[in-house]
Amino acid sequence: MSTGNARAASRLALAAFAAGIAYVPFAAQAEEVVNIYSYRQPELIKPALDAFTAETGIKTEILFLDKGLEDRILAEGTNSPADVIFTVDIARLQNAKDKGVTQALEDETVNANLPAEYRDPEGHWFGVTKRARVLYASKERVGDEPITYAELADPKWKGKICMRSGQHDYNLALISAAIAHWGEEKTEEWLTGVKNNLARKPDGGDRPQAGAIAAGECDIALGNTYYVGLMLTGSDEKEKSWAEAIKVVFPTFENGGTHVNVSGAALAKNAPNRDNAVKLIQFLSSAEAQKIQAEQAFEYPATPGIEASETVRGFGELNADTLPLAEIAKNRKAASEMVDRVGVDDGPSS
Ligand SMILES: [Fe+2]
Repeated sequence: MSTGNARAASRLALAAFAAGIAYVPFAAQAEEVVNIYSYRQPELIKPALDAFTAETGIKTEILFLDKGLEDRILAEGTNSPADVIFTVDIARLQNAKDKGVTQALEDETVNANLPAEYRDPEGHWFGVTKRARVLYASKERVGDEPITYAELADPKWKGKICMRSGQHDYNLALISAAIAHWGEEKTEEWLTGVKNNLARKPDGGDRPQAGAIAAGECDIALGNTYYVGLMLTGSDEKEKSWAEAIKVVFPTFENGGTHVNVSGAALAKNAPNRDNAVKLIQFLSSAEAQKIQAEQAFEYPATPGIEASETVRGFGELNADTLPLAEIAKNRKAASEMVDRVGVDDGPSS
């Protein structure tokens, strides 16, 4: 089959499963196409995929979904055309594995390219870029001294901290990491201290926390690194002014580093174009693709030593925690129950 035909057949496939019709791929297509189911916006992943196609001749087809990706693959069953799953956050990667829509991949190239702490030990998911959960701090009201995660519970910050819901994936991963470092009892004490230091009830996403700092409602807030890059370089003038009012502070755990999470890929359970899917995951793990991906989304390459974008380097030095993400993921339920027990989302006690 010619490349053009393969592309047409693949489009047909996407149309067929969009309409809920079972689709059996042609065998001849196997050498030429890889089907990607993605929670990531197509424009963020397209430059890396274009580089992949230029190097291998394998075309990529993207199905973008903002929810229900795993359920869709389950519903498609053995006829699922999905070869590779793309998503952000350890919670979603782990969820894909737990729902049984991934398969194990033991690949020497991928394993050599990516640090072990950012991959599933059983090979069901691979983090290819990372983001750090840092502090946005007022340029005007916060000095240059380092701030640890532990210190967020110090009464000196009373009424000065903002955050989004404690139940959000990003905060649950941070609290899960704290449990892995400190154990449950100490983490609960800490989280209670953080709650008591809140300026207001947790609300909104990470970006509006920077807005609250700009408006003088709080001095520091928990947020992910890439939002600062997005706000600084985006077209929204209000968000730009928020980002300009804050600086990035990299908090650390004692004897550890700054909490990071990943964006990554998984080999889909059925993967009709398995060989091509493996080639894509190998490519994504390469320094070249990590760099492209990280640039696009203001993330960090997963592998230390590969440079982040100029904007991201401008935040300062990231010393990433080396706790394996699979260990962090195990504490998610305990973290979520703790958030409720402590009443984080009720805001500060009066
Ligand atoms: Fe995000």
